[in-house]
Amino acid sequence: MTSPLPIAVLGSGRGSNFQALALAAAAGSLPVRFTLVGSDLAHAPILAHARSLGLPTYTCPPSRFKTKLEPEIESALARAIQDSGARLLVLAGYMRVLKAPLLEAFPGRILNIHPSLLPAFKGLAAWKQALDAGVSETGCTVHWVDASLDGGPIIAQERVPVLPGDTPESLHARIQEAEHRLLPQVLRDLAATGF
Ligand code: GRF
Repeated sequence: MTSPLPIAVLGSGRGSNFQALALAAAAGSLPVRFTLVGSDLAHAPILAHARSLGLPTYTCPPSRFKTKLEPEIESALARAIQDSGARLLVLAGYMRVLKAPLLEAFPGRILNIHPSLLPAFKGLAAWKQALDAGVSETGCTVHWVDASLDGGPIIAQERVPVLPGDTPESLHARIQEAEHRLLPQVLRDLAATGF
C-alpha cells in the first residue's frame, strides 16, 4: 500500500468540492492526505469545514485587490503550502488569478476545477455564460494551472446537459454534481500513477 498523496486545497467559497474530496478520503476511496486548506477570505465556509475536520488551515490577510493577491501575500501563502509538505495544490473554487509566487513554488503541480467544458466559457460564472450562449451541453473541466486564465492543459472533463427551464442556479447545481465526481477521480488517477 503506497502512502497517501499529500495535497493542499485552496478555495474562496462554499467548499463543496473540498467536501467531496474529504468525504472520499474518509471513506477510504481516495488516497490523499490534506496538509493544508487555505483561503483568501477569512469567512469562507471551506475554512470552517476544514477546521471541523481538524485539518490545518491558512487564511490570507485582507487584500487590496479582488482578482489577485499582493505579491507578498501570495508569497507567504506559497511558503505556508510548501512548509505543509504538499506535493500537489488543488484549486477548488479559488477566485484569484495565480501569479509568480504560487506558480513558481509548484511548477506543473497545481490543478483547478472549472465549471465549463474548456476552452469554452473561461472566467467567471461559466454556467451563466453557457445559458446565455444557448448551448445544449456544458460541463466541468479539471486542468493544470499555468499563467493563462483557465488555459492550462486539460486533464479530464465531464459533460452535463443544459435542460429546458434551467436557471443559472439549477445548471450550476448540476455541474457541481459532476465536479464532485470528476475532481476525486482525477486525484485518484494521479495518486495511482505515483504523482
Ligand atoms: C465550482 O463551481 C468550481 O468549478 C469553481 O468554483 C466553484 C466552487 O464551488 N471554480 P465550491 O466552493 O467547491 O462549492
